[in-house]
Amino acid sequence: MSFQSDLLKGHVALVTGGGTGICRGIALAFAAHGCDVAITSRRLEHLEPAVAELRATGRRAMAAAADVRDPAAVEGVISSTIAELGRLDILVNGAAGNFVCRAENLSPNGFGAVVDIDLKGTFHVTRAALPHLKAHGGSVLNISATLPYLGTMGQSHAAAAKAGIDSLTRTLACEWGPYGIRVNGIAPGPVEGTEGVRRLTSEQSRDAAIRDCPLGRMATIDDVANAALYLCSNAASFVNGVTLVVDGGLWLRSSRILGD
Ligand code: COA
Repeated sequence: MSFQSDLLKGHVALVTGGGTGICRGIALAFAAHGCDVAITSRRLEHLEPAVAELRATGRRAMAAAADVRDPAAVEGVISSTIAELGRLDILVNGAAGNFVCRAENLSPNGFGAVVDIDLKGTFHVTRAALPHLKAHGGSVLNISATLPYLGTMGQSHAAAAKAGIDSLTRTLACEWGPYGIRVNGIAPGPVEGTEGVRRLTSEQSRDAAIRDCPLGRMATIDDVANAALYLCSNAASFVNGVTLVVDGGLWLRSSRILGD
């Protein structure tokens, strides 16, 4: 079978949280398939090395710093993407914040900070992107997590936010399908080599994730990036409103207690 390397040729994507981790991997996979890419996160210094890597693929790339909690800053990122790269076809909502804290110790502001970044941030960016996606059709990909599928302890804030994101995926798929915009999601489990796994899990919980996973390992960033490539390309032209679990079947077999 021949390997097609131009699945996103002529497209422009904006990837929030694209400077590091899963979303950096998605941005690089998109660029490898002919896509020009804008990335955003709170700090420019997190974006600059990734922009250099994206440009090294031969694609156009740009970085813009913004906090997805700030709708005006988000509008600015969309405007500079259009000004610099000319159009917007694909939006990946990956910006997220998290920490492990049981609900009884969590302040209202702590719960709110994560909901504001993950759920409300996804809404702000998607809403700001709509006029540009609507112009010619496109695709939105929301990164959530398997956290809400079970009662993942220490994650009341993030699990609630991610469940909200999955809900948004389904609603917008219905509302925006008629505009030629597909809205899908990816729910990863733990992904090796990410800040999330470094900061949120213990050696014991990582060992348990590998032991419990039917495929016997943790996800790689490439596993998630390949799923993103599929969902945002024409290979998934009739897939809409789906959140694809990319965890090797782990959540079906385990109840994780993060940080323990
Ligand atoms: N445990 C309990 N509460 C915490 C916490 C922790 N580990 N980390 C932050 N909080 C609370 C703070 O105490 C604060 O609440 P308070 O005002 O009642 O004290 C609230 O969360 C906001 O914290 P703050 O640091 O002011 O917010 P921020 O906007 O600067 O940071 C976070 C956002 C909270 C998500 C922070 O964890 C962060 O910046 N993380 C780095 C990025 C990240 O999480 N990446 C994803 C990895 S998976």
